[in-house]
Amino acid sequence: MNRPLSVPGLEEFVFDLEEVIRERRSTRMFLPDRPVPRKLVDEALALAIRAPSNSNIQPWHLVFASGAARDRLVAALLREARSKPPRVPLLPHAFAHLRQELGAQVYGSMGIARDDIEARRTAVLRNWEFFGAPLAGVVCMHRDLGRVDAIGVGMFLQTLLLALTARGLGTCVQVSIAGYPETVHTQLAIPPELSVLCGLAVGYPDPTFPANNLRIGRQPIGENVTFLDC
Ligand SMILES: Cc1cc2nc3c(=O)[nH]c(=O)nc-3n(C[C@H](O)[C@H](O)[C@H](O)COP(=O)(O)O)c2cc1C
Repeated sequence: MNRPLSVPGLEEFVFDLEEVIRERRSTRMFLPDRPVPRKLVDEALALAIRAPSNSNIQPWHLVFASGAARDRLVAALLREARSKPPRVPLLPHAFAHLRQELGAQVYGSMGIARDDIEARRTAVLRNWEFFGAPLAGVVCMHRDLGRVDAIGVGMFLQTLLLALTARGLGTCVQVSIAGYPETVHTQLAIPPELSVLCGLAVGYPDPTFPANNLRIGRQPIGENVTFLDC
């Protein structure tokens, strides 16, 4: 099952679906000087829009910025992040331990100790630089749509991540970007009827950055899935 699919012109990138699912992971250090070919993004988007959605309303809206537009967004976000905390919803207590475990793995692999507040702060700030990714994405949805439509956006997004992974690109979905929605709206001229759900960093992963090679664990399936009478 691990043989590359034979897609003309893409043999060097495209993997078997199961391999791509396993290969995808969050990238938190990109090669800043290696641009993302637009052709690969277009191909990945053409696959991602095959995602299902409620009444086929296709609730996703993505804004991508690279070059000067991306740099202006990053500068504005960093200014904000240095002066006030992001407006990101707090995790309910029952889930807090999972965030702590994630932090221990990510920061641990970067050699940052739990009590090294300054080093953690610096590492967290890199969120608003899109971790150095040359392509900065912002995922939006119409403000009048609801929870069920956020499912559609999520299905689109995962398909996009997989299609980008299959093309050798790294990604990171980032709720942190949605922590300063006014700045994102202003910098990218996003119309007010679109709500910012999250950011999406896209680029080539820096292979020397240890956190890029982490395989974050998952709970046993029985923790999240219930079978009745089957
Ligand atoms: C909706 C969403 C928001 C996320 N926000 C962030 C973020 O702000 N910063 C970050 O470093 N990672 C973020 N992530 C990445 C998760 O931490 C990551 O997917 C999770 O720990 C599992 O690791 P993996 O993607 O490497 O498998 C986010 C992922 C999702 C799906």
